[in-house]
Amino acid sequence: MLKKFKIVALMTSALFLANAAYAGETAGEWLLSFERMKGVKPVTDRKYAKECGECHFAYQPGLLPAKSWEKLLTPQALKNHFGDNAELDTATLDEVRDYALNNAAETSWYKRARKIAVSTANGPAPLRITETRYIARVHEEIPAKMIKGNKDVKSLSMCNACHTQAAKGVFDSDTVNIPNFPDWD
Ligand code: HEC
Ligand code: HEC
Repeated sequence: MLKKFKIVALMTSALFLANAAYAGETAGEWLLSFERMKGVKPVTDRKYAKECGECHFAYQPGLLPAKSWEKLLTPQALKNHFGDNAELDTATLDEVRDYALNNAAETSWYKRARKIAVSTANGPAPLRITETRYIARVHEEIPAKMIKGNKDVKSLSMCNACHTQAAKGVFDSDTVNIPNFPDWD
């Protein structure tokens, strides 16, 4: 009985690790970073970090599903990217796009990426992280004066204005500091 259970457990973890490896996160990476797996995988691609971190924090690809990155990362879409021109040359766009697609929410085992994958599995591709059901829900009670009306935030899209460890892929509420509102909670 016990032996049977052990075999099943072993097979399950092997399957899990195989899946994680398939998703671009190697088994070793997964095991070593168990604690950090609560957030989203930090950005590791230099071009992505540079090109996509110029005007705002470089959003981790795990914050949106592949169908969203496919829509956002085309030459036409980048020409008018939320009112800005964020065009890239073909080689750079290929690298940035591949990186985003290979690390999109549904390919990841990180907890927040899983939540985003689940909340966007059905329906049209969201073009904003802030529009996904999960991210909209966790912020719905924050008053506008702390976001739009806050000169050091201005937009919910500026994740790192409040999430002090956003660049590490950590978004836990105990790492939040809303500028100018020290007593927000
Ligand atoms: C020239 C400036 C600029 C560059 C470069 C740029 N962006 Fe943006 N991006 C913006 C602006 C402006 C917004 C809208 C911000 C807002 O609404 O507050 C935005 C918003 C976004 C959003 C939606 C955020 C939300 O509200 O959830 C995503 C996703 C995004 N950008 C991804 C990227 C990626 C990926 C790259 C690299 C290819 C990139 N951006 C490069 C200016 C830029
Ligand atoms: C105005 C400040 C502010 C901005 C900007 C902001 N957040 Fe948050 N976020 C918060 C606060 C405050 C909470 C905690 C809410 C609570 O605990 O009730 C939170 C919670 C979260 C959570 C859930 C944390 C948990 O412990 O369950 C995630 C995930 C998150 N934010 C991601 C993001 C992302 C991604 C962005 C950018 C697209 C963003 N946030 C932008 C203030 C902000």
